[in-house]
Amino acid sequence: MAKVRKAVFPAAGLGTRFLPATKAQPKEMLPLVDKPLIQYGVEEAMQSGVRNILIVTGRGKTAIEDHFDVSFELEHLLETRHKKDLLATVRAVSDMIDVSYVRQKEALGLGHAVLRARELVGEEPFAVVLSDDVIDAEVPCLRQLLDVYEFYNAPVVALMEVPDESISAYGVVDAEPVAHNGGRDRLYRIRNMVEKPKASEAPSRLAIIGRYVLTPEIFSSLEAIGPGSGGEIQLTDGLKHVLRCRPIYGYKFEGKRYDAGDKLGFLKATVEFALKRFDLGQEFRQYLKTLPI
Ligand code: UTP
Repeated sequence: MAKVRKAVFPAAGLGTRFLPATKAQPKEMLPLVDKPLIQYGVEEAMQSGVRNILIVTGRGKTAIEDHFDVSFELEHLLETRHKKDLLATVRAVSDMIDVSYVRQKEALGLGHAVLRARELVGEEPFAVVLSDDVIDAEVPCLRQLLDVYEFYNAPVVALMEVPDESISAYGVVDAEPVAHNGGRDRLYRIRNMVEKPKASEAPSRLAIIGRYVLTPEIFSSLEAIGPGSGGEIQLTDGLKHVLRCRPIYGYKFEGKRYDAGDKLGFLKATVEFALKRFDLGQEFRQYLKTLPI
């Protein structure tokens, strides 16, 4: 079984839910406390043992590239001002990873963005990380999926239970539970999936969220399908096509996910991440307590 070495980060969406902040910068660069969203995703990939990062960019490409690049001027300035801690923080980002970029010229959908990474991925399994889904977990969510992949040698998607009123915003699976490694109840074998169903037509309340481990068949499937929901090439439709020739698993990951591409989700993540910070948490908690809410 081939090891997963690469993670694709689609970051070329229009981010319309976060306008006007996303007019001139990608939402993946919005800072959660003091780190851009995409850095949380990259750190999760690294902590999961995946070091080769492929970012699919659109507008605002330079902001993402600059973030992961070495900034000689900034480093020099911090050095001359003896700001050692900040210098270490800045260097840690550029030392962190081996990144490649590919461009999606038009935002034709998540499936289309993944297809743009085909040449860089080649014929090997790979992860997909949507960095606007920020996941706080003891074991990184991607690592949880990789454990399932390494056991079954099959594609795996992250699943989460979602209430009726929001189910139509997700890809939703029809799936049966699988007893896994002594009967853990988080693993499912997927029978079918549907992108953004009406609540009355959703096959379950189990939604796919932004972590995937995929095998290279997904590329020919994405090429074979046409535009789906919203006129976009949907990754869910590509996965549904893959289901014709091989099993796909879903794993109800352990941890808390924030939809940071949405204003309310972003605010929740900001408050909770700030409260957890050793350098800010205590003062921030005290401040929140003074608010008349
Ligand atoms: P979203 O569904 O959140 O879409 O994309 P969006 O366009 O970014 O944001 P809204 O809904 O208009 O506010 C999920 C992920 O897929 C990427 C996005 O960058 C995000 O990481 N994506 C989406 C692409 O890279 N290309 C696309 O054509 C669409």
